[in-house]
Amino acid sequence: MPRLIAVAFFLSPCVAPAQKFDRLALTPPMGWNSWNRFACDSINERVVRETADAMVSSGMRDAGYQYVVIDDCWQVARDSAGNIVADPAKFPHGIRALADYVHSKGLKFGIYTCAGTKTCAGRPASRGYEYQDARQYAAWGVDYLKEDWCNTSTQDAKEAYTMMRDALYKAGRPIVLSICEWGTAKPWRWAKEVGHLWRTTGDISNQWSYMYADDGRAGGGGIVPILDLQNGLEKYAGPGHWNDPDMLEVGNGGLTPDEERSHFTLWCMLAAPLMAGNDLRSMTAVTRAILTNREVIAIDQDELGKQCYQQSIVDDLEVFIKPLSGGDTAVCFFNRSPGTKTLDLRWTDYGIRGDHAIRNIWEGREQGRTSAPFRASFGKHQVILLRLH
Ligand code: GLA
Repeated sequence: MPRLIAVAFFLSPCVAPAQKFDRLALTPPMGWNSWNRFACDSINERVVRETADAMVSSGMRDAGYQYVVIDDCWQVARDSAGNIVADPAKFPHGIRALADYVHSKGLKFGIYTCAGTKTCAGRPASRGYEYQDARQYAAWGVDYLKEDWCNTSTQDAKEAYTMMRDALYKAGRPIVLSICEWGTAKPWRWAKEVGHLWRTTGDISNQWSYMYADDGRAGGGGIVPILDLQNGLEKYAGPGHWNDPDMLEVGNGGLTPDEERSHFTLWCMLAAPLMAGNDLRSMTAVTRAILTNREVIAIDQDELGKQCYQQSIVDDLEVFIKPLSGGDTAVCFFNRSPGTKTLDLRWTDYGIRGDHAIRNIWEGREQGRTSAPFRASFGKHQVILLRLH
């Protein structure tokens, strides 16, 4: 090699710039997270192991659920070298052993931290320890990291999450980065290159229509207020980068079965990450049937990766449309009213042209073609989910 070229080669080190791990989460992540049901006090390694077992025995793994994620409160301190320490009383065998157990079930393992000085529950968080923590997660076998936004003072969200992205990349193990800053800094505008999903609102609550007073987060509350905050965000979602309207409340007791079905359906229309938030060990047959309906999940997981858009809303009848791969279309009618609604419509009024077969997904049957008028009735807070094919 001529000397000049050799010197130039030597001077330009071949260090790839940090980036997020590519090709993770090409469809919205699916799994379970401990927070909605177990919060801080009830989470421990026995619950996590039994949840992994239940994810397999309930058929959820085979339906596509993959990540078992421990949320806040697994950590208690840092050791003298600054390493994060798991609560020895609740996780006596340590995180590595738990990750191994989850992996042995053919599942993936996730954990939680926070970008600030302390987590939302006041536990040690990652500010100033990003690289050290990322190395630790990689060594433990973590596959998914949820990073929260409490106690961040004047930190800049994009900078903070980019720091963790770079730290994870440097640690070398592909880890999904779930950004949880509640939509305050409009992550849909900047997070595509930083994380794989980002929360769009404040925390979901286990209720239908409760709305938070402004708590400094980007609104939120029950199912309907969170749903309403997703309108207009559809252009920001796609393979590898998803809007996250928060984890599921299906099976947690605050919703009627109809409302649970609607919540799940609407989240699938939104191409939302599907993180079950209930106790998988004791769920009812109804809850299980909702969470594992493969035709509904297929709409969420469609490889085109389009989030639905709101086609119309008139008198508490809301219509969502989600383009699917192969030219199919999902249409969801949502009855927000306290009474029954009757549909009697022509498809062209909804911008649907041509002659498509109609599959009514929850009823599991074909229901005519789009060349004819469509008639149906449905009750309070119910959805009708159709796949035009
Ligand atoms: C925040 C997050 C929640 C949960 C809790 C844990 O409120 O938004 O999803 O992680 O913290 O303390």
